[in-house]
Amino acid sequence: MKNRYAVVLAAGQGTRMKSDLYKVLHPVGGKPMVEHVFDQVTKAGLSEVVAVIGHGADAVKDHLGERVSYVLQEDQLGTGHAVLQAKDLLADKDGVTVVLCGDTPLIRAETMEALMDHHEKTNAKATVLTATANDPSGYGRIIRDENNGNLTNIVEHKDATDKQRSISEINTGTYCFDNRTLFNALQRVGNDNVQGEYYLPDVIGILKQQGETLSAWHTPDFAETIGVNDRVALAKAEKAFKERVNEYWMRQGVSIIDPDNTYISADSEIGRDTVLYPGTMLQGRVKIGERCMIGQNSDISNSEIGNETEVHQSVITDSQVGNSVKIGPFAHIRPSSTIEDDVKIGNFVEIKKAAFGKGSKASHLSYIGDAEVGDNVNLGCGSITVNYDGKQKYLTKIEDNAFVGCNANLIAPVTVGEGAYVAAGSTITDDVPGKSLSIARARQTNKENYVK
Ligand code: UD1
Ligand code: CA
Repeated sequence: MKNRYAVVLAAGQGTRMKSDLYKVLHPVGGKPMVEHVFDQVTKAGLSEVVAVIGHGADAVKDHLGERVSYVLQEDQLGTGHAVLQAKDLLADKDGVTVVLCGDTPLIRAETMEALMDHHEKTNAKATVLTATANDPSGYGRIIRDENNGNLTNIVEHKDATDKQRSISEINTGTYCFDNRTLFNALQRVGNDNVQGEYYLPDVIGILKQQGETLSAWHTPDFAETIGVNDRVALAKAEKAFKERVNEYWMRQGVSIIDPDNTYISADSEIGRDTVLYPGTMLQGRVKIGERCMIGQNSDISNSEIGNETEVHQSVITDSQVGNSVKIGPFAHIRPSSTIEDDVKIGNFVEIKKAAFGKGSKASHLSYIGDAEVGDNVNLGCGSITVNYDGKQKYLTKIEDNAFVGCNANLIAPVTVGEGAYVAAGSTITDDVPGKSLSIARARQTNKENYVK
């Protein structure tokens, strides 16, 4: 097998997005488009990957990190000019180079591999990945020889004649080239076209004129090749991504009641026999175990959930949840919370940076923040950790088997000892020793005949 390189074009501003965010950083399935492309390039095992950056260079670098080399395209003079920026890194190397656009987020490693295999098998100097679009407008059109159907050129939509515009076979923006041939041909690309840009696709016409062997690899799945230039295409990419991911998890044994209304990020994992109810959104890195039920309308980000746990209409962020836990409806688990097995977090309970030991319960209307809750603790309805004095946050400890009555305020820093009871309505300012009962509220007085 020949050396395989990749060049990913990610320098454009993305004017048509009408956005302050650089185009290739717009997320699909919660992940920037250009990161999707790089994940797939990495999966395809290409030996050297070059990112062409320009607009938002630092931001793009922050996302992609050290795994690629970067070249800067200071002025964005077109896709051909963009690839040429990689000359110093690649031009004198033997092998094949795949060129991809950072705005085609759905491209798969398998398709890149098929493209490269086809390229090598046909001994071509350039192979274009093509697709058939229902609405090809905006895309470059594939021009084929009328007699033998061979690829001869690519014409940009803006430069195309009406007849050429009626062609539905498009340039997906993914190509495979003989590396040296590519860099030689790029020197000869001009900018005499409607947009005054140096077009990478012009390399195809140039190689044709040189009598080189060209080839095209047609993918039946247009959705995989969507190029996102504006928000309308972004929504189409989002939809296609969702369909792909949801289908994958259904085939792995996950039930999705309404796949049109369930959103699973690219980096989530779900165990079999888990059921996702409508409106569920998994963002970032979410790992859910087996036989869980999640939803409706639950929003879970960067969290891990064990087996047989139920999450009803709740929000969970940056937290760990164990097995057989019941959360919600309408609970809010905020970052750095750890919830062990058999815990119940009921309706209108907010948890922040709190650890809950096995079997503990906060079933109704509570705020538990900056807290360590032991095993088998019962926090009555309305229990509050008063964690903030206006300047600093303090820790509340509630030890194993403690019982906190309804509407108790635990003013941190404070500890409720093992097995202790706190009377309902108490405001606890001092530590409660283990096995004791603490009552901290005014005694009731009844003023008889007061109304008269
Ligand atoms: C391009 C192709 C078109 C193809 C379509 C597929 C050209 C001239 N046209 O059109 O044939 O059908 O992709 O989606 O290549 N970029 C740079 N530097 C530049 C210009 C662009 O890095 O100077 C990057 C952009 O950030 C983007 C990619 O190259 O990621 C493609 O550029 P874009 O302007 O979106 O090209 P299209 O008009 O979509
Ligand atoms: Ca594009």
